Amino acid sequence: MILKLEEIHTYYGLVHMLQGVSLEIAEGEVVALLGRNGAGKTTALKSIMGLAPPRQGKVLFEDQDITGLPPHVIARLGIAYVPASRGIFMTLTATENLKIVRTKGARWDTEDVFRRFPKLAPLKRRRGRSLSGGEQQMLAIGRALVTGPSLILLDEPSQGLAPMVVELVVDMLRELKAEGVSMLLVEQNLQMALDLAERVYILDQGAVVFEGSARELINNDQLTASYLGVSA
Ligand SMILES: Nc1ncnc2c1ncn2[C@@H]1O[C@H](COP(=O)(O)OP(=O)(O)O)[C@@H](O)[C@H]1O
Ligand SMILES: [Mg+2]
Repeated sequence: MILKLEEIHTYYGLVHMLQGVSLEIAEGEVVALLGRNGAGKTTALKSIMGLAPPRQGKVLFEDQDITGLPPHVIARLGIAYVPASRGIFMTLTATENLKIVRTKGARWDTEDVFRRFPKLAPLKRRRGRSLSGGEQQMLAIGRALVTGPSLILLDEPSQGLAPMVVELVVDMLRELKAEGVSMLLVEQNLQMALDLAERVYILDQGAVVFEGSARELINNDQLTASYLGVSA
């Protein structure tokens, strides 16, 4: 397993947000984490990344206990986090946005990102603030890549994007998957999640209420209706 959460409990002050969440991602696997707004999905990513360290339980990355390590240390070990806010520097160009986070010796360098994702190439000299939402999202994924991660955590990459643009992001993630990059994909867009992930977890009120294959979920209208608020 590249990542293993063992019964993690995460609090915001007195609020017991994650209540014993366990989850596993195998090497090269794409796992989706679904659930309604407020279910605790972002908190789960933050717990892994050390931004909201769990008070109980363990986070194992490549068999190493990383629970509660500082975020920059976790990033250096090989986990990249693409937050819902995307984290692009608005006054820097696309190239500069990549260079500023690039890790020496990473498999991907700045030029690789533009070469492999030609949709980004014409944007090289554009500043963050003049990129569209979809372009910012693709650049944010590029930023994750140049840090040389073995696992990428993505928080709702489709959020706020038009369906055609979501397709571009899905294509990009599908290519990364084909290269064997492991991903934990938080989504509200069920279709997108099922397009990419072989296994799915559903969180509700801070606990895992379903764990199974994408196929099992598609065929279970009751699950999607109760926990995702969509009817198939
Ligand atoms: N920093 C914080 N302090 C206090 N409460 C928070 C904080 N961040 C999130 N929450 C609360 O925790 C709950 C879960 O949030 P979150 O993990 O962001 O859910 P999701 O990503 O599934 O929508 C929400 O009720 C949210 O208001
Ligand atoms: Mg969230």
